[in-house]
Amino acid sequence: MVVQILVDLNYKYKEILKLLEKESPFKPDLALVLGSGLGDFADRVELIRLLSTSELPGYPVSTVSGHQGKIIFGQYKSKNLLLFKGRIHFYEGYLLSECILPGLISCELGAEKIILTNAAGGVNNKYHPGDLMLANSFNGINIKKELTDLIGLAGIEKKNNFLNFPSSGLNKLIKKAAVQNKLDLKEGVYWYTKGPSYETPAEIRMISIFGGDAVGMSTVHEAFFAASKGMELSAVSCITNYAAGTTDKKLNHQDVILTANLVKTKFENLIKKTIELL
Ligand code: HPA
Repeated sequence: MVVQILVDLNYKYKEILKLLEKESPFKPDLALVLGSGLGDFADRVELIRLLSTSELPGYPVSTVSGHQGKIIFGQYKSKNLLLFKGRIHFYEGYLLSECILPGLISCELGAEKIILTNAAGGVNNKYHPGDLMLANSFNGINIKKELTDLIGLAGIEKKNNFLNFPSSGLNKLIKKAAVQNKLDLKEGVYWYTKGPSYETPAEIRMISIFGGDAVGMSTVHEAFFAASKGMELSAVSCITNYAAGTTDKKLNHQDVILTANLVKTKFENLIKKTIELL
């Protein structure tokens, strides 16, 4: 007999959810989690309401530079947006059940769609720093146990939520936005690594052989969680560096932020166009 004790996340975060439900000015048409160096998109929308996560009792504090801890209600082209500027990572020592808070909040505030964004290393040898990649699948094999603990052993209803994962509808929209922006949007598999350090060259060789195109330390658990809640989800990666060992260059977080900053206009235009097409 399998005995599973699931944390009731709505209960655990009831204070945060209650406060945000009170503060929320609308039901979001789209939620967006803005990854490393990509947070400035929040400044491109009409600000309706801004909350700092420090105002929310029990909200985990991000320890990573480039992750500010802001929750923004905004509008762009009359679409209601819920933006998360800054995320919390498993490698910071948080539980996956804490890392998925943006997804939980989005779902509880009524968002049916979420776009997860991140900075990632390019594993595919056709990718270069500055490229954008739309995830066509995820690899979370090394956190399967944690994911099961988070989501629960799925009944048929939840299993069905993973038949369209990521959402083909939202992915199609992002691809259409890329075409309209004349952007060469790559498509590939986002491979999750736990961190805390960047990967070793041997790990990257394995990921490459196993079909990973981009590698990063976020997003996959958020994607699994959002799908388990029946949300439509997509993920866009900004390729900030060649993955470890594919060049002689040593990786560091500041370079990741720098490259993300260099391509943020391209990234922002893709997201803006996607919102227009929603
Ligand atoms: N590996 C893991 N996470 C990352 C990388 C990387 O190369 N680049 C940006 N985030």
